[in-house]
Amino acid sequence: MDLEIRPNTWEDFPTLKKANARAQNNFYDDGDLERFRIIFELDRSLAAFENGRIVGCTTSYGLEMTVPGGTVPIGAVAQVSVQATHRRRGINTLLMKRQLTDLREWGDPLAVLQASESIIYGRYGYGMGSFEYTLELDRPHGAFAQRYEPRGRLLFIEEDEAREVFPPVFERAAAMRNGMVRRNDTWWKFRFVQSAIRGGDPRAWYVKYEVDGRADGYLWYSIKDSHLMRVKELIAATDDAYAAIWQFCFDMDLVTTVTADKRAADEPLLWMLADPRRLRQTFKDASWFRLVDVPKALAARAYSTNDSLTLQVKDPFLEWNDGRVNLDGGPEGADCRPTYQEPDLTLSAADLGAVYLGGVKLSTLSHAGRVEEHTPGALTRADAMFDAGLMPWCIDSW
Ligand SMILES: CC(C)(COP(=O)(O)OP(=O)(O)OC[C@H]1O[C@@H](n2cnc3c(N)ncnc32)[C@H](O)[C@@H]1OP(=O)(O)O)[C@@H](O)C(=O)NCCC(=O)NCCS
Repeated sequence: MDLEIRPNTWEDFPTLKKANARAQNNFYDDGDLERFRIIFELDRSLAAFENGRIVGCTTSYGLEMTVPGGTVPIGAVAQVSVQATHRRRGINTLLMKRQLTDLREWGDPLAVLQASESIIYGRYGYGMGSFEYTLELDRPHGAFAQRYEPRGRLLFIEEDEAREVFPPVFERAAAMRNGMVRRNDTWWKFRFVQSAIRGGDPRAWYVKYEVDGRADGYLWYSIKDSHLMRVKELIAATDDAYAAIWQFCFDMDLVTTVTADKRAADEPLLWMLADPRRLRQTFKDASWFRLVDVPKALAARAYSTNDSLTLQVKDPFLEWNDGRVNLDGGPEGADCRPTYQEPDLTLSAADLGAVYLGGVKLSTLSHAGRVEEHTPGALTRADAMFDAGLMPWCIDSW
């Protein structure tokens, strides 16, 4: 197989996106290409060419993600595909390796993706580290256990105002959750056109929730067939806003069912409803995390307890990560370096990705036969150290 792997050019862009869509059994029209142009980063886009023809591709977007104690630069990996005519010949393996090598060179300690199938990415060292629910509730069952009296008020706004009001609310809410993407101007621009991709319906209503003139939350929703409410985004920077906006959804006349996808794994709503079992929840793995540079990634977050652990990390895919590191961390930050000390725990790079934001416990992975404890008590200490409070959540998709 005579393959060339290289970054794309703007001339490649239309063919590339169309090839990518085809590999995912989709079709992008010219409008979709324009929408994707907004976020496209040429130098991060890779394709495998056979005799000048694109047979596989991947890309990443350079974003910032919230982690305990701050944010970390990530390569948000997307557009992974190999043409149906060229699968199972190792092309994606080559692309994944080249991409992770580039990310390391550019200094991104973490790669994050959302997988079409959960069987694909473990072999490349990605671990399933955050989870989400699609929620669905028939409105007659939307009563709260205790009716909520909001402190503020809800107002419909036009899209222009939403473009102004939503970002600061989102920033505040994102800062309270690990795993959120910090949306820059480009991503906001994309977000407002994203639902039109592949013939989707971009029509929506925008609502802000404000207290004393300051927006604390917002709702972005659409209605299908006059009675099915689809929540695109419900973002709240306070508990008051959260309760007020959900109650607004369940109070809306003529609506029969409210659905919301990409909701957090520990959504408080369940605990607010009078009849919680009526909330239909469909569970799914969400973000997959890949530590591109183990010491750098581990040192980039803070930890819940002050402790020190030596980890033996198995990473056959990225040999530079394969080895032992000592992690010395606490609430103020962390230091992580290669070491010759005896390990407290042995685990794979993928499992380290899974526990990175505290959405999965090391002890759970140990019960699954994936993590080995050498020092008695190390698993309990590691669980406490990596614990990050609320479950990680990412409402964005890319
Ligand atoms: C997923 C995809 C990119 C894999 O590309 P590929 O070039 O066939 O992958 P490789 O040949 O490098 O496969 C490496 C290994 O992964 C396995 N593998 C890859 N994709 C798999 C899948 N979908 N199901 C099961 N196994 C898969 C291969 O069998 C191979 O295993 P081996 O090393 O034991 O032989 C390709 O199948 C594809 O484009 N699928 C449709 C689009 C899609 O789902 N993309 C992912 C978006 S998140």
